[in-house]
Amino acid sequence: MSAVPILRIENVTKDFQIKRSALSGENLTLRAVNDVSLDVYPGETLGVVGESGCGKSTLGRTILQLTRPTQGRILFDGNDITRLSRKQLKAIRQDIQIIFQDPYSSLNPRMKVRDIIAEPLENFSSDRSAITRRVHEVMEIVKLPVAYADRYPHEFSGGQRQRIGIARAIAIRPRLIVCDEAVSALDVSVQAQILNLLKEIQRETQVALLFISHNLGVVRYLSHRVAVMYLGRVVELASEQALFENPKHPYTSALLSAIPEADYSRRGTRKYLSGDIPSPIDPPPGCPFHQRCEKVQDVCRVETPVLDALAPEHWAACHFPNVSDKGIRDGA
Ligand SMILES: Nc1ncnc2c1ncn2[C@@H]1O[C@H](COP(=O)(O)OP(=O)(O)OP(=O)(O)O)[C@@H](O)[C@H]1O
Ligand code: SF4
Ligand SMILES: [Mg+2]
Repeated sequence: MSAVPILRIENVTKDFQIKRSALSGENLTLRAVNDVSLDVYPGETLGVVGESGCGKSTLGRTILQLTRPTQGRILFDGNDITRLSRKQLKAIRQDIQIIFQDPYSSLNPRMKVRDIIAEPLENFSSDRSAITRRVHEVMEIVKLPVAYADRYPHEFSGGQRQRIGIARAIAIRPRLIVCDEAVSALDVSVQAQILNLLKEIQRETQVALLFISHNLGVVRYLSHRVAVMYLGRVVELASEQALFENPKHPYTSALLSAIPEADYSRRGTRKYLSGDIPSPIDPPPGCPFHQRCEKVQDVCRVETPVLDALAPEHWAACHFPNVSDKGIRDGA
């Protein structure tokens, strides 16, 4: 893995202003992403997991500059892209692409597949024959018959539509792809094919992937490192192996033990996540997880833990992190 990150997210916060009532016009602040710092390296997949509403998609959208962060910087290849003009952003869009959960709604139903895949290329080139060559090339890479180039999205299965989405994303040779729940809508067997395709593309091109999913199994399969988000914050960051085999944060342990079919269920005490996720409009004081944490102590209710390095390349934000794998087995 390269020593220089292709993407550096520095202390990014994203607030949304929500109207409390149309009558009073009073605004409330919803902090969807809270002081997140992450790096992504060329050829790496960084997984981002967490329950619904924890800010995964908002983080992805700030990277793509579909929404501007309220605070913080996002460096792509060393340049802060949060301050770019619309025109300068266009050039960056060549390097950063996105794959969505639902390819059907993100693919224009009135366009032929060849035009859908060609569209991003046309923003940067007017050489028709080179564009057609590239469209055919990427259709082969994603294993779609070139003979289908004149068909429309509705003529394809869900898995094939996701292949079209991937072909469109890679056509322009991006250096980073944000995958937002890219396989969540697919059947398990199709999921595996798409994940393998993404792995293959990454091996060939060294493209970096920011892989957002609420599905831990899928994240584990694809990611080199994993960030766990809770209420807008990164609460744990580690290599795939360290995170899944030796989670330090009680929230991560609870997420893992809630996977019914996984080996984690053999670890003795199952920790189910109880209670509701707090509202990001009115977050709890102290540790954001304290209302649901079985290890909570008084200090957790008042002091927000910071992300600390607890082992080499392993960070967690907890006053009482799990000390070892054994600690997790014993429910300590
Ligand atoms: N445009 C917006 N305006 C107001 N609030 C928003 C907006 N976009 C997201 N939010 C809120 O920000 C928080 C984070 O949402 P986000 O979609 O990033 O979560 P997520 O982790 O992607 O969830 P899911 O797993 O359901 O996709 C949620 O409370 C959501 O309601
Ligand atoms: S800081 Fe306290 S409440 Fe928060 S996760 Fe750690 S032990 Fe639980
Ligand atoms: Mg989302």
